[in-house]
Amino acid sequence: MTPTATPNRMAFTPNHDEAARQGFVTSLKKFINFEVEAALAERFESHAAPAYAARTGAAPTNRKEASAALADDPLFQLWATLTYHSQNLMWDSVQDTTDRLLENRLAAFQALRDATPSGGSLHLSDELVVKAPVKTTEIHRQPGGYWREQRPDDIEQGLNYTGTLELYRSAKGMSAAKADDGGSMGRFVAEVAQRRAPDLSPTAILDMGCATGDQTQAYKRLYPEARVVGLDCARPLLRYAHGNAESAGVAIDFHERDAADTGFPDESFDLITSIIMFHETSAEQVGPILRECWRLLRPGGLVVHLDIPYHAHRIPLVKQATNDWQVRNNGEPFWTGFVELDMTAKLTEAGFDREQLFADYESSGAATYFFFGGRKPW
Ligand SMILES: C[S@@+](CC[C@H](N)C(=O)[O-])C[C@H]1O[C@@H](n2cnc3c(N)ncnc32)[C@H](O)[C@@H]1O
Repeated sequence: MTPTATPNRMAFTPNHDEAARQGFVTSLKKFINFEVEAALAERFESHAAPAYAARTGAAPTNRKEASAALADDPLFQLWATLTYHSQNLMWDSVQDTTDRLLENRLAAFQALRDATPSGGSLHLSDELVVKAPVKTTEIHRQPGGYWREQRPDDIEQGLNYTGTLELYRSAKGMSAAKADDGGSMGRFVAEVAQRRAPDLSPTAILDMGCATGDQTQAYKRLYPEARVVGLDCARPLLRYAHGNAESAGVAIDFHERDAADTGFPDESFDLITSIIMFHETSAEQVGPILRECWRLLRPGGLVVHLDIPYHAHRIPLVKQATNDWQVRNNGEPFWTGFVELDMTAKLTEAGFDREQLFADYESSGAATYFFFGGRKPW
């Protein structure tokens, strides 16, 4: 007989009708991301860019000029309208499932927190530690952002975030990113870390911006003897992460802290990671967070951050213009600011050894990501 897996008591489980509606939103988003964007790319080359050149005397060469070239184009306006409203539909459709499950999952969180069957822990701060843009922007236009609390022990934002994860990523063609797929992104980061430091067998791992902790769990599964810490600034996500990990039988210590000011002692960790956290910080925070990583790293340890790969030299002008629109209108305030940073310079300023730092790209299946970090000499 095949053993049945223990059900995750915190799982986001749409019923038939909810799944049908969420499936429709996924298909709509996929259509916009692929078919409509492909038509827009053609339209940019055949009409918008030549019209801009005729008007100004020169072809568009950067995101600002490409955005100006597209601003009045009906197909661009249609793409923007569809993108905006499909994002609303995504949050609306996920909220139905959250509303139905919330009471049950909240009780499960409280029971798991009180019993801690897996031996992990949850450490919330006395004060909120959120900073702009997380504090001031509804990131991804999630209603209430990452940190809204509407009831004691609130986990609502964690359920909503989990519900959209698979929908959003599969609509972008990244099918291997289910919340419950055992942490495929975390495994990918660990694989890159292994390649960068083959002799490193981490005993203390810090995952910054861990959100619901699905990827953090991958590190504990890969290195069961290691102490694994998940850090985030958003309390409802951390509560959800703790219940989620306890239910899955994975012992992780979750802390509500700012990544730039973690309060852990110097040289506490030999592997420090993050997955798509930095592009949700700000130009002011990047340097201090990297300095904090350097302070926390033990000699011989490694820092590996994964983030978006939308650097201007890698994507066409039309994509730079649509990304610029997402910054202004769709809850992605630091997408372009992040990719315009000189990460090698930032790492060097933070203390990373020039010979041992990296800022380049790695692929997993069809998806490519930007990786940056470095190793501390012995
Ligand atoms: C896109 S989510 C990351 C998701 C997660 N790493 C994963 O792979 O599922 C970005 C996370 O970074 C957190 N974050 C942003 N700025 C932060 C900061 N300064 N300190 C700690 N966490 C931060 C947000 O609260 C959010 O949970």
